[in-house]
Amino acid sequence: MMSQVKTYIETNQQRLLDELFDLLRIPSVSANPDFHDDVFEAAQYLAERLSEAGLDEVEICPTDGYPIVYGQKIIDPSLPTVLVYGHYDVQPADPYELWHSPPFEPEIRDGKIYARGACDDKGQVYMHVKAFEYMMTHQALACNVKFMIEGEEEVGSANLGTFVRNNRSKLSADVVLISDTSMIANDVPSIDSGLRGLSYVEVEVTGPNRDLHSGVYGGAVTNPVNALCSMIARLHDEQGRITIPGFYDDVQNLSDTERKELNRAPLDEKAYRQDLGIDALHGEEGYTTLERTGIRPTLDVNGIWGGYTGEGSKTVLPSKAFAKISMRLVPNQNSHSATELFASYFKSLAPAGVRVEVRPHHGGEPVVTPTDSIAYRAASQAMQDTFGVMPIPTRGGGSIPIVALFEKELGLKSVLMGFGLDSDALHSPNEHYGVFNYLKGIETIPAFFHHFARLSAEA
Ligand code: BES
Ligand code: MN
Ligand code: MN
Repeated sequence: MMSQVKTYIETNQQRLLDELFDLLRIPSVSANPDFHDDVFEAAQYLAERLSEAGLDEVEICPTDGYPIVYGQKIIDPSLPTVLVYGHYDVQPADPYELWHSPPFEPEIRDGKIYARGACDDKGQVYMHVKAFEYMMTHQALACNVKFMIEGEEEVGSANLGTFVRNNRSKLSADVVLISDTSMIANDVPSIDSGLRGLSYVEVEVTGPNRDLHSGVYGGAVTNPVNALCSMIARLHDEQGRITIPGFYDDVQNLSDTERKELNRAPLDEKAYRQDLGIDALHGEEGYTTLERTGIRPTLDVNGIWGGYTGEGSKTVLPSKAFAKISMRLVPNQNSHSATELFASYFKSLAPAGVRVEVRPHHGGEPVVTPTDSIAYRAASQAMQDTFGVMPIPTRGGGSIPIVALFEKELGLKSVLMGFGLDSDALHSPNEHYGVFNYLKGIETIPAFFHHFARLSAEA
């Protein structure tokens, strides 16, 4: 079976790449309404490719936002069913001038496919489409499969909850398989056994009722930008801990054994620093880099603005200052509680002379996924088959809010079998995805189906 899929990939390699390139050329940016039609076009493109690959009942399901592409292949109702989830929307490509090739004109350089969405998540979604095509054309589909590919992941999946609740039986399955995460390295495959949650807020600090001359009034009035900066500065202490009272109350602490296990993954800190062009790493005292990104919560300013930022100088004491702030959450924190704790503490930090507003954006809950399930073992065995080494379970620092929702609404656990790398520049200029990773994914997915069916039958 293994050599067969390799032959298929070798003989079809150019087409496998060309079809992905066609998808990457569609600028399906969900955050920006200018790309409204393109997001629909990406859904259409995927639906067509899924039908061609042999999926039945392919639908473009409308929502109040962007549609969900659904399709299924039920070969035998008595066999287990895998629900494949992914997203066809992408992050904005700005700033365009930092790209070495245009973000929606995919190009291979140095063995990597450069384009917005190459890794997150079009490249990884398309591996599943082509792996399914392979299984269909080679009588290798060992269990039932359903596809659910959404178009609003990068903007918080606001309409997915309703879709899932309204389509419980349609989405019934034994496990959710998701390729939207990273591995440690191409020679150190890993499977995420957890993801962080997210609380995202926007804050607005208002001082005087208009912008003022900074000479005439400076010194007599609280400057909202100064105030915002000092308030933000007070959100962390000297040890890199978040100062919000109660913030850590629900944080699950890992046992020493679990921490040791997590830190078994090799991380070359020097290469990590060099890749980022920084001379030191920084974070919560007492934790390793892998722990800081995997099992500890964080608070980061995503953007800050206010006052005069144009050419030259303008001596102004601004009326307002703004920031977008996100918190990554870990089990058993809750995004709504975190948002509330933040809001009341942040308001309490306001100096006299300013008003503070905190507006919550989307959020998501943290998850841990089992590493002793049949599905995890199938993923692990599949990667062992194709990479030649056993993948390490690790924790992903990013968030996929729908994973907690699948658990709550459908009672389904997920397997996070991702093939990207953290260094693939997700959400950044020059996002890329290794041709190796793309093809390795297409090779590994049929092995997952094979082992999942086999282990389910044995159980
Ligand atoms: N695929 C990422 C999440 C991810 C990336 C998890 C790498 C683990 C490793 C996903 O598309 C994403 O970007 N999620 C957002 C959250 C969403 C609510 C906007 C995130 O993590 O910022
Ligand atoms: Mn993604
Ligand atoms: Mn993303």
